[in-house]
Amino acid sequence: MTNGRMKMMASGYHMPVMLHECIAALMIKPGGTYVDVTFGGGGHSKEILKHLGESGRLCAFDQDPDALRNAIDDERFVLIHQNFRFLKNNLRLHGVKAVDGILADLGVSSHQFDDAQRGFSTRFEAELDMRMDRAGALDAKQVLNTYPEADLHRIFGMYGELHNARTLAKTIAAARLIRPIHTVDGLKEVVKNVVPRGKEHKYHAQLFQALRIEVNGELDALQEFLQQTVAVLKPGGRLVVMSYHSLEDRLVKNFIAKGKFRGEVEKDFYGNEMKPLKSVSRKAIVAGSDEVARNSRARSAKLRIAEKG
Ligand SMILES: C[S@@+](CC[C@H](N)C(=O)[O-])C[C@H]1O[C@@H](n2cnc3c(N)ncnc32)[C@H](O)[C@@H]1O
Repeated sequence: MTNGRMKMMASGYHMPVMLHECIAALMIKPGGTYVDVTFGGGGHSKEILKHLGESGRLCAFDQDPDALRNAIDDERFVLIHQNFRFLKNNLRLHGVKAVDGILADLGVSSHQFDDAQRGFSTRFEAELDMRMDRAGALDAKQVLNTYPEADLHRIFGMYGELHNARTLAKTIAAARLIRPIHTVDGLKEVVKNVVPRGKEHKYHAQLFQALRIEVNGELDALQEFLQQTVAVLKPGGRLVVMSYHSLEDRLVKNFIAKGKFRGEVEKDFYGNEMKPLKSVSRKAIVAGSDEVARNSRARSAKLRIAEKG
């Protein structure tokens, strides 16, 4: 058994972040219908079910087949093995037209990080896979070995926020001509001369984040999802989103504040702002120091809450 698997089994699938804050933000009505679009280990879903009465309903989504084994045996619950970018159609397929609250706890689970074979972590030697959906067509090896240098430059700069993205892309493009890059250690070896000394850990984390975002189309999926929430929420319904890096948080923040991802709020003929959602918390909510001490994943979490007007 790999170290990763042993750690995963010792620590459980995933420890939910800001559980109480998320549940309070949803303002759960016992007879309401709710959606948890990032089911993972089901920590948030289990808590939502505790607040629902007999007529309440919870639909959950996860694109990772590993999450399916955590499905909760409860008549009020259904787990949909789909990407949340297809939220609206999947809810309709399950007979759900409008909901009282939607929760999204973005990114990867501890299980995905800690399972060495998935290739998400810089800590373990593994094939560079990084697909959350194991049936996905694109993996990190393909990105590294087939993308034009200019696309690698864009990905490393935008998604990894790496200052030397151009040099990094050039280094990878030159190295793969000699030998394709297949593994975590292979990638680290190729980039070792462009990594600032003493900052290896942070640099590798940013590089892996960039690859993961590209492989899973994370920012596109998030934008498509956010746009559908407006149609799916009932008036007064709550949108609760937890993100773990600034690129995601910026999209969530802008969408809540302006109804769009960039540019200014649009106005109607009479000059009224066209904003489908209203922010409930002025600033993003962050985890308390106690929680961060217990769960390091909580450190970068930002929670934003909105209500449909
Ligand atoms: C941070 S974890 C959620 C953990 C969960 N709240 C819990 O308490 O266990 C994120 C989960 O969402 C899933 N996920 C991420 N992006 C997704 C997407 N676009 N569609 C469906 N599932 C997604 C991942 O596979 C992962 O299991």
